[in-house]
Amino acid sequence: MDAETLLTTTRSVRRKLDLDRPVDPAVIEDCLRIAQQAPAAGGLLKAQRWVAVLDPELRAEVAAITRTAAHQVWQHYAHLADTSMFASARHLVDHLDRVPALVLPCMPGRRPASAAEQSSFYGSIYPAIWSFQLALRTRGLASSLCSYHLAGHEPDVARLLGIPADVTQVGLIAVAHSTQREFSPAARPPVGEILSFDAWAGSASLG
Ligand SMILES: Cc1cc2nc3c(=O)[nH]c(=O)nc-3n(C[C@H](O)[C@H](O)[C@H](O)COP(=O)(O)O)c2cc1C
Repeated sequence: MDAETLLTTTRSVRRKLDLDRPVDPAVIEDCLRIAQQAPAAGGLLKAQRWVAVLDPELRAEVAAITRTAAHQVWQHYAHLADTSMFASARHLVDHLDRVPALVLPCMPGRRPASAAEQSSFYGSIYPAIWSFQLALRTRGLASSLCSYHLAGHEPDVARLLGIPADVTQVGLIAVAHSTQREFSPAARPPVGEILSFDAWAGSASLG
């Protein structure tokens, strides 16, 4: 697969995850090795820590925590997602205990207060998260990142997995073999609407 195809057709896969086929831990290790080549703020190049949950009982507990959190989050934000995305998100949460690998990217320390430090903190792991997802795709796996449990339930997952309280969990990546090989580019705003040269010309509104 050429780079442009990989970059434009790697989707958040929630319904086409193979829930019956285990994920080899060696594949996770290999994809994380690749992801470690992603950029990070200089001082944070070695900061990331990742926890891959493969044990079925632990996955069930992480899934239960995530489900509780997701229902709380949806009470406030479900109206912001379009109907099919919400149905897909719900499908994943409903089946999360059966997803063969739940991967938690983490950063040591708690979220910093200043904007510059926040940018470095999260910006030093998100490129690796995306590289990890891309690498999985090249090996026939698919993934979806979600962040529900961070809304008040991060300590529950921390207690369950022994993650220290001074480590920040950045999200949860559901990982499985994909039951679908081909994906298409998604609808996104045309570049002309989001890019201007030499001076700001766009609307600051999200809508
Ligand atoms: C920071 C971040 C948080 C996300 N949180 C969630 C989430 O909580 N639940 C979910 O179903 N998807 C989540 N996603 C996936 C997005 O919904 C998804 O990337 C978006 O809908 C675009 O779809 P695509 O990835 O298939 O192009 C998240 C993605 C990012 C980058």
